[in-house]
Amino acid sequence: MFRCAFLILFVALGNELHLSHGTEVSVNNTENKLCLYANLMVNFSVAYEVGVNKSETVILVLPENVTTEGSACDNTTSTLKLSFGDGHSWTVDFTKNNKTYQVDTIVFSYNLNDSSVFPNSTSKETKSVTVKSIITNVSVDTYYSCKSADVRTVESVIQTLYDVALQAFVINGSKSDTDTICSADMPSTTVAPTTTVTTTAAPTSTPTLPTPTTGKYSIATDVNSTACLMATFGLQIGYKQGDKEETINLVPNMTEVGGACRSNSSDLKLTSDTITIMFTFSNDGKKFQLHALNVTVIPATGAPVVAVNTNMSIWAAAVGSSYMCNKEQTLNVTDTLTLYTFELRVQPFEVNKGEFATAHECSLDDTSILIPIIVGAALAGLILIVVIAYVIGRRKTYVGYQTL
Ligand SMILES: *[C@@H]1O[C@H](CO)[C@@H](O)[C@H](O)[C@H]1NC(C)=O
Ligand SMILES: *[C@@H]1O[C@H](CO)[C@@H](O)[C@H](O)[C@H]1NC(C)=O
Ligand SMILES: *[C@@H]1O[C@H](CO)[C@@H](O)[C@H](O)[C@H]1NC(C)=O
Ligand SMILES: *[C@@H]1O[C@H](CO)[C@@H](O)[C@H](O)[C@H]1NC(C)=O
Ligand SMILES: *[C@@H]1O[C@H](CO)[C@@H](O)[C@H](O)[C@H]1NC(C)=O
Ligand SMILES: *[C@@H]1O[C@H](CO)[C@@H](O)[C@H](O)[C@H]1NC(C)=O
Ligand SMILES: *[C@@H]1O[C@H](CO)[C@@H](O)[C@H](O)[C@H]1NC(C)=O
Ligand SMILES: *[C@@H]1O[C@H](CO)[C@@H](O)[C@H](O)[C@H]1NC(C)=O
Ligand SMILES: *[C@@H]1O[C@H](CO)[C@@H](O)[C@H](O)[C@H]1NC(C)=O
Ligand SMILES: *[C@@H]1O[C@H](CO)[C@@H](O)[C@H](O)[C@H]1NC(C)=O
Ligand SMILES: *[C@@H]1O[C@H](CO)[C@@H](O)[C@H](O)[C@H]1NC(C)=O
Ligand SMILES: *[C@@H]1O[C@H](CO)[C@@H](O)[C@H](O)[C@H]1NC(C)=O
Repeated sequence: MFRCAFLILFVALGNELHLSHGTEVSVNNTENKLCLYANLMVNFSVAYEVGVNKSETVILVLPENVTTEGSACDNTTSTLKLSFGDGHSWTVDFTKNNKTYQVDTIVFSYNLNDSSVFPNSTSKETKSVTVKSIITNVSVDTYYSCKSADVRTVESVIQTLYDVALQAFVINGSKSDTDTICSADMPSTTVAPTTTVTTTAAPTSTPTLPTPTTGKYSIATDVNSTACLMATFGLQIGYKQGDKEETINLVPNMTEVGGACRSNSSDLKLTSDTITIMFTFSNDGKKFQLHALNVTVIPATGAPVVAVNTNMSIWAAAVGSSYMCNKEQTLNVTDTLTLYTFELRVQPFEVNKGEFATAHECSLDDTSILIPIIVGAALAGLILIVVIAYVIGRRKTYVGYQTL
Protein backbone atom coordinates (compact mmCIF):
# COMPACT_ATOMS: atom_id res chain seq x y z
CA MET A 1 0.00 0.00 0.00
CA PHE A 2 2.78 2.35 1.04
CA ARG A 3 4.76 1.46 -2.01
CA CYS A 4 1.72 2.01 -4.18
CA ALA A 5 1.18 5.50 -2.78
CA PHE A 6 4.84 6.26 -3.27
CA LEU A 7 4.65 5.09 -6.85
CA ILE A 8 1.68 7.28 -7.63
CA LEU A 9 3.45 10.26 -6.11
CA PHE A 10 6.53 9.40 -8.13
CA VAL A 11 4.58 9.16 -11.38
CA ALA A 12 2.77 12.40 -10.67
CA LEU A 13 6.03 14.17 -9.89
CA GLY A 14 7.64 12.63 -12.95
CA ASN A 15 4.88 14.00 -15.12
CA GLU A 16 5.16 17.35 -13.45
CA LEU A 17 8.88 17.52 -14.10
CA HIS A 18 8.56 16.38 -17.68
CA LEU A 19 6.98 19.73 -18.54
CA SER A 20 5.72 20.11 -22.06
CA HIS A 21 8.78 18.41 -23.47
CA GLY A 22 8.26 15.80 -26.14
CA THR A 23 5.19 13.92 -27.21
CA GLU A 24 3.49 12.06 -24.40
CA VAL A 25 0.83 9.48 -25.12
CA SER A 26 -0.98 6.68 -23.35
CA VAL A 27 -2.97 3.86 -24.87
CA ASN A 28 -5.54 1.83 -22.99
CA ASN A 29 -6.56 -1.72 -23.80
CA THR A 30 -10.05 -3.08 -24.25
CA GLU A 31 -10.44 -3.33 -20.47
CA ASN A 32 -9.58 0.39 -20.35
CA LYS A 33 -6.35 -0.18 -18.50
CA LEU A 34 -3.14 1.55 -19.52
CA CYS A 35 -1.20 -0.83 -21.77
CA LEU A 36 1.24 1.37 -23.67
CA TYR A 37 2.96 4.58 -22.70
CA ALA A 38 5.42 6.75 -24.57
CA ASN A 39 7.13 10.06 -24.06
CA LEU A 40 9.56 10.81 -26.84
CA MET A 41 10.83 13.21 -29.46
CA VAL A 42 11.19 12.56 -33.15
CA ASN A 43 12.55 14.81 -35.88
CA PHE A 44 12.09 13.98 -39.52
CA SER A 45 14.14 15.39 -42.32
CA VAL A 46 12.33 14.75 -45.59
CA ALA A 47 13.63 15.43 -49.08
CA TYR A 48 10.96 15.74 -51.78
CA GLU A 49 10.78 16.79 -55.41
CA VAL A 50 9.65 20.27 -56.33
CA GLY A 51 10.44 20.11 -60.03
CA VAL A 52 12.38 18.09 -62.54
CA ASN A 53 15.69 17.18 -60.90
CA LYS A 54 14.98 19.67 -58.10
CA SER A 55 14.33 18.79 -54.52
CA GLU A 56 13.70 20.51 -51.22
CA THR A 57 14.34 19.29 -47.69
CA VAL A 58 12.07 20.08 -44.79
CA ILE A 59 12.38 19.30 -41.09
CA LEU A 60 9.26 18.04 -39.36
CA VAL A 61 9.03 17.66 -35.63
CA LEU A 62 6.57 15.18 -34.13
CA PRO A 63 4.15 17.61 -32.46
CA GLU A 64 2.87 17.33 -28.91
CA ASN A 65 -0.63 17.23 -30.25
CA VAL A 66 -1.15 13.82 -31.79
CA THR A 67 -4.00 11.35 -31.87
CA THR A 68 -3.58 7.71 -30.97
CA GLU A 69 -6.44 6.32 -33.02
CA GLY A 70 -5.44 3.00 -34.55
CA SER A 71 -3.25 2.07 -31.59
CA ALA A 72 -3.98 -1.29 -30.00
CA CYS A 73 -2.61 -3.67 -27.39
CA ASP A 74 -2.75 -7.42 -27.45
CA ASN A 75 -1.05 -10.09 -25.34
CA THR A 76 1.99 -10.40 -27.56
CA THR A 77 1.69 -7.60 -30.11
CA SER A 78 0.98 -3.90 -29.75
CA THR A 79 0.76 -0.96 -32.07
CA LEU A 80 1.31 2.68 -31.31
CA LYS A 81 -0.05 4.87 -34.09
CA LEU A 82 0.45 8.60 -33.77
CA SER A 83 -1.36 10.72 -36.33
CA PHE A 84 -0.66 14.38 -36.72
CA GLY A 85 -1.18 17.33 -39.00
CA ASP A 86 -2.83 16.77 -42.35
CA GLY A 87 -2.56 13.02 -42.87
CA HIS A 88 0.87 12.23 -41.42
CA SER A 89 1.46 9.32 -39.10
CA TRP A 90 4.16 7.48 -37.21
CA THR A 91 3.42 3.86 -36.35
CA VAL A 92 5.44 1.63 -34.06
CA ASP A 93 4.86 -2.12 -33.89
CA PHE A 94 5.89 -4.07 -30.79
CA THR A 95 6.10 -7.78 -30.16
CA LYS A 96 6.70 -9.63 -26.94
CA ASN A 97 8.13 -13.00 -26.14
CA ASN A 98 8.43 -14.49 -22.67
CA LYS A 99 10.91 -12.14 -21.09
CA THR A 100 11.49 -9.25 -23.43
CA TYR A 101 9.71 -7.07 -25.91
CA GLN A 102 10.95 -5.16 -28.90
CA VAL A 103 10.05 -2.79 -31.67
CA ASP A 104 9.74 -4.65 -34.94
CA THR A 105 9.13 -1.80 -37.35
CA ILE A 106 8.49 1.90 -37.42
CA VAL A 107 6.49 3.21 -40.35
CA PHE A 108 6.48 6.92 -41.11
CA SER A 109 3.81 8.09 -43.56
CA TYR A 110 3.82 11.61 -44.90
CA ASN A 111 1.29 13.34 -47.08
CA LEU A 112 3.01 15.33 -49.81
CA ASN A 113 -0.35 16.97 -50.55
CA ASP A 114 0.01 18.93 -47.29
CA SER A 115 1.34 22.12 -48.83
CA SER A 116 1.86 23.75 -45.44
CA VAL A 117 4.64 21.20 -44.85
CA PHE A 118 5.72 20.29 -48.39
CA PRO A 119 5.25 23.44 -50.48
CA ASN A 120 5.47 23.03 -54.25
CA SER A 121 5.74 19.26 -54.09
CA THR A 122 5.29 17.75 -57.53
CA SER A 123 3.84 14.59 -56.02
CA LYS A 124 0.56 14.73 -54.11
CA GLU A 125 0.80 11.20 -52.78
CA THR A 126 1.15 9.86 -49.28
CA LYS A 127 4.49 8.10 -48.99
CA SER A 128 5.76 5.68 -46.38
CA VAL A 129 9.15 4.56 -45.19
CA THR A 130 9.79 1.60 -42.90
CA VAL A 131 12.56 1.45 -40.32
CA LYS A 132 13.49 -1.97 -39.00
CA SER A 133 13.82 -2.83 -35.34
CA ILE A 134 15.83 -0.28 -33.39
CA ILE A 135 14.60 -1.02 -29.88
CA THR A 136 15.20 -4.60 -28.83
CA ASN A 137 15.62 -6.76 -25.78
CA VAL A 138 13.63 -4.60 -23.39
CA SER A 139 12.78 -6.61 -20.29
CA VAL A 140 9.07 -7.10 -19.76
CA ASP A 141 7.70 -4.81 -17.03
CA THR A 142 10.40 -2.21 -17.53
CA TYR A 143 10.35 0.90 -19.64
CA TYR A 144 12.88 1.58 -22.34
CA SER A 145 14.89 4.69 -21.72
CA CYS A 146 17.20 6.36 -24.21
CA LYS A 147 18.25 9.97 -24.06
CA SER A 148 20.78 9.58 -26.85
CA ALA A 149 19.70 10.30 -30.38
CA ASP A 150 19.18 7.37 -32.70
CA VAL A 151 19.42 8.42 -36.34
CA ARG A 152 17.94 6.24 -39.08
CA THR A 153 18.05 7.02 -42.76
CA VAL A 154 15.69 5.28 -45.16
CA GLU A 155 15.34 6.53 -48.73
CA SER A 156 14.75 10.27 -48.57
CA VAL A 157 13.82 10.42 -44.89
CA ILE A 158 16.14 10.82 -41.91
CA GLN A 159 14.47 10.10 -38.57
CA THR A 160 16.04 11.20 -35.32
CA LEU A 161 14.57 9.62 -32.23
CA TYR A 162 15.70 10.96 -28.87
CA ASP A 163 14.74 11.48 -25.24
CA VAL A 164 12.70 8.30 -25.40
CA ALA A 165 10.84 6.75 -22.50
CA LEU A 166 8.37 4.12 -23.50
CA GLN A 167 6.76 1.02 -22.16
CA ALA A 168 4.72 -1.49 -24.10
CA PHE A 169 2.88 -4.43 -22.52
CA VAL A 170 2.25 -2.48 -19.34
CA ILE A 171 1.15 -4.92 -16.64
CA ASN A 172 -2.05 -4.26 -14.69
CA GLY A 173 -2.40 -0.69 -15.93
CA SER A 174 0.56 0.70 -14.02
CA LYS A 175 3.78 1.88 -15.56
CA SER A 176 6.97 0.26 -14.33
CA ASP A 177 9.44 2.22 -12.24
CA THR A 178 12.45 0.32 -13.56
CA ASP A 179 14.03 0.94 -16.89
CA THR A 180 16.09 -0.79 -19.52
CA ILE A 181 18.68 1.74 -20.59
CA CYS A 182 19.89 1.74 -24.17
CA SER A 183 23.57 0.98 -24.68
CA ALA A 184 24.20 4.46 -26.07
CA ASP A 185 23.32 5.91 -22.66
CA MET A 186 25.60 3.55 -20.76
CA PRO A 187 28.60 5.16 -19.17
CA SER A 188 31.78 3.57 -20.41
CA THR A 189 35.36 3.83 -19.37
CA THR A 190 37.36 5.51 -22.04
CA VAL A 191 40.94 6.54 -22.41
CA ALA A 192 41.85 8.80 -19.56
CA PRO A 193 44.95 10.89 -19.22
CA THR A 194 47.41 8.82 -17.22
CA THR A 195 50.14 11.35 -16.80
CA THR A 196 48.97 13.17 -13.70
CA VAL A 197 48.64 10.21 -11.37
CA THR A 198 50.80 10.03 -8.31
CA THR A 199 50.35 7.03 -6.10
CA THR A 200 51.39 7.46 -2.53
CA ALA A 201 54.27 5.18 -1.73
CA ALA A 202 53.15 2.43 0.58
CA PRO A 203 54.73 2.51 4.01
CA THR A 204 56.80 -0.53 4.99
CA SER A 205 53.96 -2.30 6.77
CA THR A 206 51.20 -3.18 4.35
CA PRO A 207 48.22 -0.95 4.99
CA THR A 208 44.78 -2.40 4.40
CA LEU A 209 43.65 -0.83 1.16
CA PRO A 210 40.00 0.01 0.62
CA THR A 211 38.04 -2.29 -1.68
CA PRO A 212 38.89 -1.29 -5.25
CA THR A 213 36.36 0.67 -7.30
CA THR A 214 34.47 -1.48 -9.76
CA GLY A 215 35.36 -0.55 -13.33
CA LYS A 216 33.42 -1.15 -16.53
CA TYR A 217 35.54 -2.07 -19.48
CA SER A 218 34.52 -2.92 -23.00
CA ILE A 219 36.16 -3.21 -26.34
CA ALA A 220 34.62 -2.98 -29.79
CA THR A 221 35.94 -4.03 -33.16
CA ASP A 222 35.66 -0.45 -34.42
CA VAL A 223 34.39 2.91 -33.16
CA ASN A 224 30.90 2.54 -34.57
CA SER A 225 30.10 -0.97 -33.46
CA THR A 226 28.83 -2.17 -30.12
CA ALA A 227 31.03 -4.05 -27.68
CA CYS A 228 32.46 -7.47 -28.55
CA LEU A 229 33.93 -7.97 -25.07
CA MET A 230 32.62 -6.61 -21.81
CA ALA A 231 33.93 -6.83 -18.28
CA THR A 232 33.15 -5.21 -14.96
CA PHE A 233 35.19 -5.76 -11.83
CA GLY A 234 37.18 -4.18 -9.09
CA LEU A 235 40.79 -5.34 -9.05
CA GLN A 236 43.36 -5.49 -6.29
CA ILE A 237 46.81 -6.95 -6.76
CA GLY A 238 48.96 -8.37 -4.02
CA TYR A 239 52.65 -8.89 -4.78
CA LYS A 240 55.87 -9.69 -3.03
CA GLN A 241 58.77 -7.32 -3.18
CA GLY A 242 61.60 -9.09 -1.44
CA ASP A 243 60.07 -10.08 1.86
CA LYS A 244 57.47 -7.35 1.81
CA GLU A 245 53.85 -7.99 0.82
CA GLU A 246 52.30 -5.05 -0.99
CA THR A 247 48.84 -4.45 -2.35
CA ILE A 248 47.67 -2.03 -4.99
CA ASN A 249 44.27 -1.19 -6.48
CA LEU A 250 43.45 -0.63 -10.13
CA VAL A 251 41.76 2.78 -10.45
CA PRO A 252 39.20 2.45 -13.28
CA ASN A 253 39.06 6.09 -14.29
CA MET A 254 42.85 6.18 -14.63
CA THR A 255 42.93 3.08 -16.77
CA GLU A 256 43.28 2.76 -20.49
CA VAL A 257 41.40 -0.06 -22.19
CA GLY A 258 42.65 -2.06 -25.12
CA GLY A 259 42.48 -5.51 -26.57
CA ALA A 260 41.09 -7.53 -29.41
CA CYS A 261 38.23 -9.88 -30.21
CA ARG A 262 38.93 -12.91 -32.35
CA SER A 263 36.79 -15.95 -32.98
CA ASN A 264 38.49 -18.25 -30.48
CA SER A 265 40.55 -15.93 -28.37
CA SER A 266 40.02 -12.44 -26.97
CA ASP A 267 42.32 -10.10 -25.10
CA LEU A 268 41.52 -7.39 -22.61
CA LYS A 269 44.45 -5.15 -21.79
CA LEU A 270 44.21 -2.60 -19.00
CA THR A 271 46.95 -0.08 -18.52
CA SER A 272 47.38 2.41 -15.73
CA ASP A 273 50.61 4.08 -14.72
CA THR A 274 51.30 1.42 -12.11
CA ILE A 275 49.59 -1.68 -13.49
CA THR A 276 49.53 -3.33 -16.88
CA ILE A 277 47.40 -6.42 -17.08
CA MET A 278 46.41 -8.54 -20.02
CA PHE A 279 43.63 -11.10 -19.75
CA THR A 280 43.55 -13.68 -22.53
CA PHE A 281 40.34 -15.64 -22.92
CA SER A 282 40.00 -18.68 -25.11
CA ASN A 283 37.02 -20.64 -26.32
CA ASP A 284 36.61 -24.08 -27.80
CA GLY A 285 33.30 -23.28 -29.45
CA LYS A 286 31.29 -24.33 -26.44
CA LYS A 287 32.96 -22.92 -23.37
CA PHE A 288 35.20 -19.98 -22.73
CA GLN A 289 37.70 -19.50 -19.95
CA LEU A 290 40.43 -17.19 -18.77
CA HIS A 291 43.45 -18.87 -20.20
CA ALA A 292 46.37 -16.54 -19.60
CA LEU A 293 47.34 -13.56 -17.50
CA ASN A 294 50.28 -11.24 -17.95
CA VAL A 295 50.62 -8.73 -15.14
CA THR A 296 53.23 -6.05 -14.62
CA VAL A 297 53.20 -3.91 -11.51
CA ILE A 298 55.42 -0.88 -11.33
CA PRO A 299 56.00 -0.11 -7.64
CA ALA A 300 56.85 3.37 -6.41
CA THR A 301 60.34 2.09 -5.65
CA GLY A 302 62.22 -0.91 -6.93
CA ALA A 303 62.05 -3.04 -10.01
CA PRO A 304 58.78 -3.88 -11.81
CA VAL A 305 57.12 -7.10 -10.72
CA VAL A 306 56.10 -9.29 -13.64
CA ALA A 307 53.84 -12.33 -13.41
CA VAL A 308 52.82 -14.45 -16.36
CA ASN A 309 50.68 -17.55 -16.26
CA THR A 310 49.57 -19.08 -19.55
CA ASN A 311 48.11 -22.22 -18.11
CA MET A 312 44.98 -21.09 -16.36
CA SER A 313 41.45 -22.33 -16.73
CA ILE A 314 39.20 -20.23 -14.58
CA TRP A 315 36.13 -18.03 -15.15
CA ALA A 316 34.66 -20.71 -17.37
CA ALA A 317 31.16 -20.49 -18.82
CA ALA A 318 29.31 -21.34 -22.00
CA VAL A 319 30.06 -19.19 -25.03
CA GLY A 320 27.21 -16.71 -25.39
CA SER A 321 26.80 -16.36 -21.65
CA SER A 322 28.75 -14.40 -19.08
CA TYR A 323 30.69 -15.38 -15.98
CA MET A 324 29.87 -13.67 -12.72
CA CYS A 325 31.33 -13.66 -9.23
CA ASN A 326 30.18 -10.98 -6.84
CA LYS A 327 32.18 -12.20 -3.89
CA GLU A 328 35.87 -11.52 -3.54
CA GLN A 329 37.81 -14.05 -5.56
CA THR A 330 41.50 -14.86 -5.09
CA LEU A 331 43.66 -15.92 -8.01
CA ASN A 332 47.23 -17.03 -7.47
CA VAL A 333 48.87 -16.01 -10.72
CA THR A 334 52.35 -16.94 -9.54
CA ASP A 335 54.00 -17.49 -6.17
CA THR A 336 54.71 -13.81 -5.90
CA LEU A 337 51.58 -12.24 -7.34
CA THR A 338 47.90 -12.68 -6.49
CA LEU A 339 44.79 -11.05 -7.95
CA TYR A 340 41.73 -10.22 -5.91
CA THR A 341 38.60 -9.53 -7.92
CA PHE A 342 35.35 -7.99 -6.70
CA GLU A 343 31.91 -7.82 -8.30
CA LEU A 344 33.25 -9.60 -11.34
CA ARG A 345 31.30 -10.11 -14.54
CA VAL A 346 32.89 -10.91 -17.88
CA GLN A 347 31.74 -11.86 -21.32
CA PRO A 348 34.66 -12.21 -23.71
CA PHE A 349 32.71 -13.61 -26.68
CA GLU A 350 29.45 -13.08 -28.53
CA VAL A 351 28.28 -9.93 -26.79
CA ASN A 352 24.98 -8.76 -28.22
CA LYS A 353 23.87 -5.15 -28.29
CA GLY A 354 26.28 -4.10 -25.62
CA GLU A 355 24.58 -6.12 -22.91
CA PHE A 356 25.71 -9.02 -20.77
CA ALA A 357 23.98 -12.31 -21.48
CA THR A 358 22.78 -14.61 -18.71
CA ALA A 359 25.44 -15.31 -16.17
CA HIS A 360 27.10 -18.44 -14.92
CA GLU A 361 27.70 -17.69 -11.27
CA CYS A 362 30.78 -18.78 -9.37
CA SER A 363 30.35 -21.27 -6.54
CA LEU A 364 31.29 -18.58 -4.00
CA ASP A 365 28.05 -16.78 -4.83
CA ASP A 366 26.03 -19.96 -4.71
CA THR A 367 23.21 -19.64 -2.22
CA SER A 368 21.75 -23.07 -2.96
CA ILE A 369 23.76 -24.51 -0.07
CA LEU A 370 21.56 -22.36 2.19
CA ILE A 371 18.46 -24.24 1.21
CA PRO A 372 19.47 -27.60 2.73
CA ILE A 373 20.60 -25.72 5.83
CA ILE A 374 17.27 -23.92 6.14
CA VAL A 375 15.32 -27.11 5.49
CA GLY A 376 17.49 -28.94 8.03
CA ALA A 377 17.00 -26.21 10.62
CA ALA A 378 13.26 -26.21 10.04
CA LEU A 379 13.12 -29.98 10.42
CA ALA A 380 15.19 -29.86 13.62
CA GLY A 381 12.81 -27.19 14.96
CA LEU A 382 9.83 -29.33 14.08
CA ILE A 383 11.30 -32.36 15.83
CA LEU A 384 12.03 -30.24 18.90
CA ILE A 385 8.43 -29.00 18.99
CA VAL A 386 7.11 -32.55 18.68
CA VAL A 387 9.40 -33.73 21.48
CA ILE A 388 8.40 -30.83 23.74
CA ALA A 389 4.73 -31.42 22.97
CA TYR A 390 5.20 -35.09 23.76
CA VAL A 391 6.95 -34.36 27.03
CA ILE A 392 4.30 -31.84 28.08
CA GLY A 393 1.61 -34.26 27.03
CA ARG A 394 3.19 -37.01 29.10
CA ARG A 395 3.48 -34.73 32.12
CA LYS A 396 -0.13 -33.63 31.83
CA THR A 397 -1.26 -37.20 31.65
CA TYR A 398 0.92 -38.10 34.58
CA VAL A 399 -0.37 -35.19 36.62
CA GLY A 400 -3.85 -36.17 35.59
CA TYR A 401 -3.43 -39.68 36.88
CA GLN A 402 -2.07 -38.36 40.18
CA THR A 403 -5.03 -36.15 40.90
CA LEU A 404 -7.42 -38.94 40.18
C1 LIG B 1 -6.69 4.59 -19.17
O1 LIG B 1 -6.47 3.74 -18.05
C2 LIG B 1 -6.08 4.44 -16.88
C3 LIG B 1 -5.85 3.39 -15.80
O2 LIG B 1 -4.98 2.42 -16.24
C4 LIG B 1 -7.17 5.41 -16.47
O3 LIG B 1 -6.75 6.14 -15.32
C5 LIG B 1 -7.43 6.37 -17.62
O4 LIG B 1 -8.52 7.22 -17.31
C6 LIG B 1 -7.77 5.61 -18.88
N1 LIG B 1 -7.88 6.55 -19.98
C7 LIG B 1 -8.97 6.70 -20.70
C8 LIG B 1 -8.90 7.66 -21.82
O5 LIG B 1 -9.98 6.05 -20.48
C1 LIG C 1 14.96 18.42 -33.62
O1 LIG C 1 14.38 19.56 -34.17
C2 LIG C 1 14.31 20.68 -33.29
C3 LIG C 1 13.58 21.77 -33.99
O2 LIG C 1 13.98 21.89 -35.31
C4 LIG C 1 15.71 21.09 -32.91
O3 LIG C 1 15.66 22.15 -32.00
C5 LIG C 1 16.41 19.91 -32.28
O4 LIG C 1 17.75 20.24 -32.02
C6 LIG C 1 16.38 18.72 -33.19
N1 LIG C 1 16.95 17.64 -32.48
C7 LIG C 1 17.76 16.73 -33.02
C8 LIG C 1 18.27 15.66 -32.13
O5 LIG C 1 18.06 16.77 -34.21
C1 LIG D 1 17.79 15.31 -64.85
O1 LIG D 1 18.90 14.50 -64.47
C2 LIG D 1 19.16 13.44 -65.39
C3 LIG D 1 20.30 12.61 -64.86
O2 LIG D 1 20.72 13.03 -63.63
C4 LIG D 1 19.54 14.02 -66.75
O3 LIG D 1 19.75 12.95 -67.67
C5 LIG D 1 18.40 14.89 -67.23
O4 LIG D 1 18.79 15.55 -68.44
C6 LIG D 1 18.07 15.96 -66.20
N1 LIG D 1 16.89 16.72 -66.67
C7 LIG D 1 16.85 18.03 -66.60
C8 LIG D 1 15.58 18.66 -67.14
O5 LIG D 1 17.76 18.72 -66.19
C1 LIG E 1 -4.87 19.23 -31.57
O1 LIG E 1 -5.19 18.74 -32.86
C2 LIG E 1 -6.57 18.76 -33.13
C3 LIG E 1 -6.80 18.15 -34.50
O2 LIG E 1 -5.67 17.54 -35.03
C4 LIG E 1 -7.08 20.20 -33.09
O3 LIG E 1 -8.46 20.22 -33.33
C5 LIG E 1 -6.76 20.80 -31.75
O4 LIG E 1 -7.13 22.15 -31.72
C6 LIG E 1 -5.30 20.68 -31.44
N1 LIG E 1 -5.04 21.15 -30.08
C7 LIG E 1 -4.04 21.92 -29.76
C8 LIG E 1 -3.92 22.29 -28.32
O5 LIG E 1 -3.22 22.30 -30.59
C1 LIG F 1 -4.52 -12.89 -23.48
O1 LIG F 1 -4.29 -13.21 -22.13
C2 LIG F 1 -5.47 -13.40 -21.37
C3 LIG F 1 -5.09 -13.62 -19.92
O2 LIG F 1 -3.78 -13.96 -19.76
C4 LIG F 1 -6.25 -14.60 -21.94
O3 LIG F 1 -7.45 -14.75 -21.23
C5 LIG F 1 -6.56 -14.31 -23.41
O4 LIG F 1 -7.20 -15.44 -23.99
C6 LIG F 1 -5.30 -14.01 -24.17
N1 LIG F 1 -5.64 -13.61 -25.53
C7 LIG F 1 -5.00 -14.08 -26.59
C8 LIG F 1 -5.46 -13.56 -27.91
O5 LIG F 1 -4.08 -14.88 -26.51
C1 LIG G 1 7.72 -19.13 -23.68
O1 LIG G 1 7.52 -20.07 -22.60
C2 LIG G 1 6.78 -21.23 -22.97
C3 LIG G 1 6.56 -22.08 -21.74
O2 LIG G 1 7.22 -21.59 -20.64
C4 LIG G 1 7.54 -21.98 -24.04
O3 LIG G 1 6.77 -23.12 -24.46
C5 LIG G 1 7.76 -21.07 -25.23
O4 LIG G 1 8.53 -21.72 -26.21
C6 LIG G 1 8.48 -19.80 -24.81
N1 LIG G 1 8.52 -18.89 -25.96
C7 LIG G 1 9.63 -18.24 -26.31
C8 LIG G 1 9.50 -17.35 -27.48
O5 LIG G 1 10.67 -18.36 -25.70
C1 LIG H 1 -4.88 17.34 -52.15
O1 LIG H 1 -5.54 18.26 -51.31
C2 LIG H 1 -6.56 18.99 -51.94
C3 LIG H 1 -7.18 19.96 -50.93
O2 LIG H 1 -6.22 20.41 -50.05
C4 LIG H 1 -7.62 18.03 -52.42
O3 LIG H 1 -8.62 18.76 -53.13
C5 LIG H 1 -6.99 16.99 -53.34
O4 LIG H 1 -7.95 16.02 -53.71
C6 LIG H 1 -5.84 16.30 -52.64
N1 LIG H 1 -5.20 15.41 -53.58
C7 LIG H 1 -4.86 14.16 -53.28
C8 LIG H 1 -4.17 13.38 -54.33
O5 LIG H 1 -5.12 13.69 -52.19
C1 LIG I 1 6.95 27.55 -54.79
O1 LIG I 1 7.17 27.85 -56.16
C2 LIG I 1 6.95 29.22 -56.47
C3 LIG I 1 7.09 29.38 -57.96
O2 LIG I 1 7.61 28.24 -58.57
C4 LIG I 1 7.95 30.06 -55.72
O3 LIG I 1 7.69 31.41 -56.01
C5 LIG I 1 7.79 29.83 -54.25
O4 LIG I 1 8.79 30.53 -53.54
C6 LIG I 1 7.91 28.36 -53.96
N1 LIG I 1 7.62 28.19 -52.56
C7 LIG I 1 8.47 27.60 -51.73
C8 LIG I 1 8.05 27.56 -50.30
O5 LIG I 1 9.53 27.11 -52.12
C1 LIG J 1 31.76 5.76 -38.08
O1 LIG J 1 30.61 6.52 -38.38
C2 LIG J 1 30.90 7.81 -38.90
C3 LIG J 1 29.60 8.56 -39.07
O2 LIG J 1 28.51 7.69 -39.27
C4 LIG J 1 31.68 7.66 -40.21
O3 LIG J 1 32.00 8.94 -40.71
C5 LIG J 1 32.95 6.86 -39.96
O4 LIG J 1 33.60 6.61 -41.17
C6 LIG J 1 32.61 5.53 -39.30
N1 LIG J 1 33.85 4.87 -38.94
C7 LIG J 1 34.08 3.56 -39.16
C8 LIG J 1 35.40 3.06 -38.75
O5 LIG J 1 33.23 2.84 -39.67
C1 LIG K 1 38.11 8.90 -10.27
O1 LIG K 1 37.12 8.27 -9.45
C2 LIG K 1 37.19 8.69 -8.09
C3 LIG K 1 36.13 7.90 -7.34
O2 LIG K 1 36.20 6.57 -7.66
C4 LIG K 1 36.94 10.18 -8.01
O3 LIG K 1 37.06 10.59 -6.68
C5 LIG K 1 37.94 10.92 -8.86
O4 LIG K 1 37.63 12.28 -8.87
C6 LIG K 1 37.89 10.39 -10.28
N1 LIG K 1 38.93 11.05 -11.06
C7 LIG K 1 38.74 11.43 -12.31
C8 LIG K 1 39.88 12.07 -12.99
O5 LIG K 1 37.66 11.28 -12.90
C1 LIG L 1 53.77 -9.79 -21.04
O1 LIG L 1 53.55 -8.42 -21.38
C2 LIG L 1 54.73 -7.69 -21.66
C3 LIG L 1 54.34 -6.26 -21.96
O2 LIG L 1 53.28 -5.83 -21.21
C4 LIG L 1 55.44 -8.31 -22.85
O3 LIG L 1 56.65 -7.63 -23.09
C5 LIG L 1 55.72 -9.77 -22.58
O4 LIG L 1 56.27 -10.37 -23.71
C6 LIG L 1 54.44 -10.50 -22.18
N1 LIG L 1 54.76 -11.86 -21.84
C7 LIG L 1 54.12 -12.91 -22.36
C8 LIG L 1 54.61 -14.24 -21.93
O5 LIG L 1 53.21 -12.78 -23.16
C1 LIG M 1 47.17 -19.16 -3.06
O1 LIG M 1 48.37 -19.15 -2.36
C2 LIG M 1 48.25 -19.10 -0.94
C3 LIG M 1 49.61 -19.02 -0.31
O2 LIG M 1 50.57 -18.66 -1.22
C4 LIG M 1 47.50 -20.32 -0.46
O3 LIG M 1 47.30 -20.23 0.92
C5 LIG M 1 46.16 -20.41 -1.16
O4 LIG M 1 45.51 -21.60 -0.80
C6 LIG M 1 46.33 -20.35 -2.66
N1 LIG M 1 45.02 -20.28 -3.26
C7 LIG M 1 44.67 -20.99 -4.32
C8 LIG M 1 43.28 -20.80 -4.80
O5 LIG M 1 45.44 -21.77 -4.86
